[in-house]
Amino acid sequence: MQKFYKLIEDKVKEALLKNDYQVQDVIISESNRPDLGEFQYNGAMNLAKDYHKSPILIANDIKMTLEQDPFFKDVNVAGPGFINLSVSDNTLLKYINNSDFSYPKNDKLIFLDYGGANVAKSLHVGHLRSANIGEALKRLCNYLGYNTLSDTHLGDWGRPLGLVILELQKRNPSWAYFDENYKGDYPKVGITSTLLEEVYPYASQKAKEDEEYLKEAQNMTKQLQERKRGIYALWQEIMEVSKTDIKKIYDRLNTHYDLYKGESDAEKYVPEMLTYLDKQGIVEESEGAKVIPVSEDNDKLEVPPMLLIKSDGGILYSTTELATIYERMQINNPNEIWYIVDKRQELHFKQVFRAAYKSKIVSADKKLVFAGFGTMNGKDGKPFKTRDGGVMRLTDLLESVKTESLKRLNENITENRDKIAEDIAISTVKYADLLPNRETDYNFDLDKFCSLDGKTGPYILYSTIRMKSLLKKAEENNFKYEKMSIIRGNHTRDLILLLTNLDNVLNNAFNAKSLNDITDYLYKLATCFNRFYTENIILKETNEAIRESWLYLVSIIYKVNNILLDILAINVPDKM
Ligand code: ARG
Repeated sequence: MQKFYKLIEDKVKEALLKNDYQVQDVIISESNRPDLGEFQYNGAMNLAKDYHKSPILIANDIKMTLEQDPFFKDVNVAGPGFINLSVSDNTLLKYINNSDFSYPKNDKLIFLDYGGANVAKSLHVGHLRSANIGEALKRLCNYLGYNTLSDTHLGDWGRPLGLVILELQKRNPSWAYFDENYKGDYPKVGITSTLLEEVYPYASQKAKEDEEYLKEAQNMTKQLQERKRGIYALWQEIMEVSKTDIKKIYDRLNTHYDLYKGESDAEKYVPEMLTYLDKQGIVEESEGAKVIPVSEDNDKLEVPPMLLIKSDGGILYSTTELATIYERMQINNPNEIWYIVDKRQELHFKQVFRAAYKSKIVSADKKLVFAGFGTMNGKDGKPFKTRDGGVMRLTDLLESVKTESLKRLNENITENRDKIAEDIAISTVKYADLLPNRETDYNFDLDKFCSLDGKTGPYILYSTIRMKSLLKKAEENNFKYEKMSIIRGNHTRDLILLLTNLDNVLNNAFNAKSLNDITDYLYKLATCFNRFYTENIILKETNEAIRESWLYLVSIIYKVNNILLDILAINVPDKM
């Protein structure tokens, strides 16, 4: 990746040195006064303090030096000492003709934990952002040269499974799974996802109303965690059905994992971890339970101890969480682990992370990162619910977007309508989901998100297809486009300038662990391209150098566009 901003920063730094000004870091930003320049340097004000000199004089010194450099087209000073810079055509041509957007590989390993599906419960709208943000962050890391490992971290070992198994037992007491005296392999009973989808909400509601039932369910969870033969075998059947189902939805969302591990895998590490923790001497008894105190002196709000073992000997979400870190450090030893989880789980992670560092399960040079995300609410800003007040299943949400996309799909398209509508629907959902900052809540507005105008998935797809068909027509006309030799026409320069910002956009997204800079950039790129496309008659241009330059630029914009859509895990249909 060519770092265009760095190039300018080096030039300015050199000019400063030449004028005997010493600075550590020169930071160039995009100009907020495009009428005055394309880039901006605001460091003269700080230097003025160090050198007891007026900033305008310093700015003028720099201006005089930079003006000599053909790299720049215009250098001017505004206000108290802002330096505005514009680069020459040659500089931009050189940049675009040598455009390389790839990053070298590095040897860091980032482990990403996202998706968070729960076995025996359907994925609901709350799981959407985890999958979308997590998958995109993983792809971004890979693009930037990092090695990654991804894991769904299935919720497969806790209370919901106790509930489901108990209810199945009540309904089918004769299943071999429940026969204490049964020996040999258990015959499968034909668990289906439809059955599970019905059983869990029923059992969960019942446990709220019936204390006896709740106790039985807790007992069932314990039997599962003790791996009682029949119960464990039934759990395995449930797991198989549920995992297949979960994978289907993740496939629809272009979300793929290296690992499909879960709480149950980590549980195997619990005894070993407990021994280790005991040796570290950080476990304390509290009302019969075992805890790890994790509060720190400058906590504004008290951070309660992390619960390790309940007084009845049972383990909790936090126990398997810590054991998962223990497991990942033993097996994969990543440099960083990123958790893309609902921001309401922040306290849980704070406790677990502190316990992990305190116990030295994780050494201080490694990073545990909580990347919490905001909620997707209904159009009215209230939690997203189905018409009858239930939790909205993710499949139902995707179907409703697909139906709407199909309805809006151009009638002239007769082939592959279903596949095209699916691609549009997924792009709609993903783009809308990744558009707000990760931590911000947003409201789901079907009409707005499906619109062909504005910051929407369909708008981006439409523009991408337009780029592609323009290039196809150029090829049909045997127009070559191997380089850019001249900058002419409306918005041509703006497009190149946008490209020079790509490296910043990607790095900002990586640092913030949020995709909003990328979705925003895609919108800017599409809008600028569409203006360029409408205002220049590209294929009919008779000056070959101009035509080739435009087409070459389009080919680069198209390429960058595809790189970014691929990072967001958005497929582009052939037509729409
Ligand atoms: N299964 C959890 C849920 O639905 C999310 C899991 C997130 N990942 C983790 N390592 N705890 O809330």
